[in-house]
Amino acid sequence: MSRIIEMLQDEHRNIARLIDVLEQELSVFDRRERPDYEIFQAIIQYFKEYPENCHHPKEDVVYQILKERNPAVAGAVGDVEAEHEIEGERLNKFAQVVEDVLADQELPRQTFHEAAKDFIEHQRRHMAKEEQLLFPAALETLTADDWSRINSRIDDRKDPMFDGEITSKFQNLHNTILRWEKETEEQRLKTAAPQS
Ligand SMILES: [Fe+2]
Repeated sequence: MSRIIEMLQDEHRNIARLIDVLEQELSVFDRRERPDYEIFQAIIQYFKEYPENCHHPKEDVVYQILKERNPAVAGAVGDVEAEHEIEGERLNKFAQVVEDVLADQELPRQTFHEAAKDFIEHQRRHMAKEEQLLFPAALETLTADDWSRINSRIDDRKDPMFDGEITSKFQNLHNTILRWEKETEEQRLKTAAPQS
């Protein structure tokens, strides 16, 4: 399998972990408790810095080369670049409601809930679509030469949170992800354990 597709899949797994934490914080909000808005902000910052700025552009390059190699196959995948733009707009919308809450702006709870939910659901759907359509189509259609062209065009900067060293501004978010995953796993084991 192409190393590039493996890297994109790894990045999807990391994004999925963040989306799970985001959903968890949203459920706190939905219970009318105070969620951790700093975590919301850190998630948004991470998305702007890495998935928006590096992960999506890499997929755009794969899609562009696929379009050149076989327009019909690319057409069947759908417009990946346009979807990325819409995902960016959803992220901005969510960032805006978080800012509004933190600035004590009057905001219907429903508006906040919908912006967060919309972002969560579409991110998941979008990644599933890439895994089911874009990646298999690219693996099947692209030649070794195409992959080296992709390789030379993609930005290979390091992920600031999931690639070894963690940038200090994301340290807190990373700790939250690990803590939440540990608690979820403990909860799962407790539920699965036979009752005595
Ligand atoms: Fe993706």
